[in-house]
Amino acid sequence: MKAAIELNKTPRAKPSRSGLNYFVKTFGCQMNEHDSERIAGLFEYDGMLKANSLEQADVLFINTCTIRENADDKLYGTLGQLKKWKSENSNRKLLVGGCAAQKDKELVRERAPWVDVVIGTHNLTNIVNLLNQSEDWGPITEVIDEIESLPTDAPSIRESEVSAWLTIQIGCNNSCTFCIVPSVRGPEISRRPSDIVNEATAMIDSGVKEITLLGQNVNSYGRDLKINGSSKPYFTELLTELNNVEGLKRIRFTSPHPKDFKPETLIAVNDLDKVANQIHMPLQSGSNKILRKMQRGYTQEKFLEKLNLAKDTIEDVSLTTDIIVGFPGETDVDFEETLKVIKESQFDAVYMFKFSPRPGTTANTMDDDFIEKEVIDSRFMKLKEIQTEISHVRYKRFIGTDQKLLVEKYSKKTNTFMSGKIDGGQTVHIPSQDVSIGDFLDVRIIEATPFALTAEII
Ligand code: SAH
Ligand code: SF4
Ligand code: F3S
Repeated sequence: MKAAIELNKTPRAKPSRSGLNYFVKTFGCQMNEHDSERIAGLFEYDGMLKANSLEQADVLFINTCTIRENADDKLYGTLGQLKKWKSENSNRKLLVGGCAAQKDKELVRERAPWVDVVIGTHNLTNIVNLLNQSEDWGPITEVIDEIESLPTDAPSIRESEVSAWLTIQIGCNNSCTFCIVPSVRGPEISRRPSDIVNEATAMIDSGVKEITLLGQNVNSYGRDLKINGSSKPYFTELLTELNNVEGLKRIRFTSPHPKDFKPETLIAVNDLDKVANQIHMPLQSGSNKILRKMQRGYTQEKFLEKLNLAKDTIEDVSLTTDIIVGFPGETDVDFEETLKVIKESQFDAVYMFKFSPRPGTTANTMDDDFIEKEVIDSRFMKLKEIQTEISHVRYKRFIGTDQKLLVEKYSKKTNTFMSGKIDGGQTVHIPSQDVSIGDFLDVRIIEATPFALTAEII
């Protein structure tokens, strides 16, 4: 694993924890994975080295998620297990950050008094400072409501040598009624295009081949920057600027919002050679009644119109989506509408979630309309069954075709296989003989399951 410090901004002048080891455990989405890379960067700047396991760690950071209730349950379960880890060595430090920490604040330590530092999402770059304070004065909680510093101001130690996250925007200004993200991540703030391009260039210099742009609503990127005095989004222009970065092989982005997708962005995705022909269009529900209750800002018809435009504009586009099953008030008829859109859309993959009421959200107050667990479970199974068949058909379309594969890592189970992704975002396994991490290979697809492909080098 290669360690690359991209930016040299840091809260401390001198490394102070040389010889100690850290471990970061991450729950949740790509934003959290990327924040964890920043935490690792700050720890390494402070002199620590990455531990291979929890047992070898002196400092442990748990980066939490709270998108669904089971994420909270998992956190408190994990903190319970970590009481023993802490008690094994009195010098060990346990740090908790991320979205659940932002939401629960003091409650984290009330439920787990053995935690040394609780830090929210808005002040991540203060972590080493808080660790110092906890050593001097005991346990500390710092969860603030206003954004103090962008996490992008911190150095970063990436998990992958060749594929990197690049935050273009933090927070979200939407108000989907099921979603807790705006309350734990704050309002939408875009980074300057020049900062983004500079970070991309630094990444390429350190060996990165593929970049995934991150934001909760990437197609509204730049509205708040008023570039050239305009509050028009600057996303298509950003893609074009990044497409010109020399040495970069591939650009992906997530997540766009269907309501803000512009035809010119679809054209750019098709025309810009480095931008992958892959679009994630999170539908959530196919029923107009439910979409309205979710405040998603589009109808089934509008969604399908945009999806069809994507299919017509982008050559061999790979499409994915998110669905929430069992939103309050979802009837069998509403669910059938979702299945109808799923069948018509022919997504490569669907990320499926059972509705989970989140504190502070509007949907949490719709308890009169909550759907029974058994009904949600059976709808979920039905959707899964239908989509697995569709995914298999979609994945089989690649058999016999030639694709460009970026090799990212060894397969988990065996060293005789490696894996990576092709342009459409599908995972591909390939025998590891004569293949190295970072290779950008011409391969032929020979096998397909509903979830992955197998290839051979041409
Ligand atoms: N900004 C992204 C979504 C981020 S959250 C977007 O608008 O698409 C990722 C996914 O988690 C959502 O798309 C939704 O499908 C799911 N999700 C969010 N809140 C949820 C909840 N309360 N219950 C179940 N699923 C939820
Ligand atoms: Fe949540 Fe909606 Fe914002 Fe996505 S767009 S993060 S679902 S509020
Ligand atoms: Fe992501 Fe979970 Fe936070 S999905 S933004 S880590 S609540």
